[in-house]
Amino acid sequence: MTRARIDAFFEALWRDYVSIAPSAAGIRALFAADNPDLANDHVAFRSFDRDPIGIDRLEQPLLALGYRRLAPYRFEEKQLDAWAYVHADPDRPRIFLSALRTVSLSAPARAIVDGLLAQAVQLARDEPARFATEAIFHAGRLWRMPSWDDYQLLLAESEYAAWLAVFGLRANHFTIAVNSLRSPATLEGVIERVEAAGHPLNRAGGTKKGSPAELLEQASTLADRIALRFGDGRVHEVPSCYYEFARRYPDQSGELYQGFVAASADRIFESTDTGAGTGAGRARR
Ligand code: NI
Repeated sequence: MTRARIDAFFEALWRDYVSIAPSAAGIRALFAADNPDLANDHVAFRSFDRDPIGIDRLEQPLLALGYRRLAPYRFEEKQLDAWAYVHADPDRPRIFLSALRTVSLSAPARAIVDGLLAQAVQLARDEPARFATEAIFHAGRLWRMPSWDDYQLLLAESEYAAWLAVFGLRANHFTIAVNSLRSPATLEGVIERVEAAGHPLNRAGGTKKGSPAELLEQASTLADRIALRFGDGRVHEVPSCYYEFARRYPDQSGELYQGFVAASADRIFESTDTGAGTGAGRARR
């Protein structure tokens, strides 16, 4: 696989991402100026655990690009399963692909998701080429825009499902690799610079998730909010995407830790919560 194809893939993901999360471009610029080696730690995607967008099918184009499965992750409270992928070229970002267990939804919520997936199944029959390459990762919705009421019903049960229903397949977040920075070299320094520029951070579970002992420290902004026209014509502002920051530490072999820490990622998922940022405990998953 050519390097150019992977470059083009991440450029397309980034363009799509900043189109709905414009703050990310400004945040990247805060670091790009004095950090010529600024790198992406990982890009994350959300999906449903069913055809035609289950992980088994979605990962095929990633494997074709030279990615391999690193490790599986489970999020019991949020009813998600995930895989992390790494590339043979260590300069390529990791990819984190998660999927909601649709059987965990209530009957009314599952009926909405069934309706969305039925449209995706039809699309996969009519236009199989759209599902055959990495372009599926910035395809957006593979179904019509849900109504505001359906969005609210999903949101009451699963913020993840509601986000996915209105935004579809696309990068949920990019992540600045703190290890690639000359300055600031610590996650605390990164947090300070982002906050000083006026970008609010996700404080659920504390601003900083993880620790050097866990070999991974992370933080994230709160998602931008954008106005969407729902299927019933109503227009509402909803959270779109956030930006993440990750600092990795070497393991006992001296190699930088490559994996993820489920407990940290669990709270980072909440960066797209509609009421996020208070740090208060939330019963809703
Ligand atoms: Ni992440």
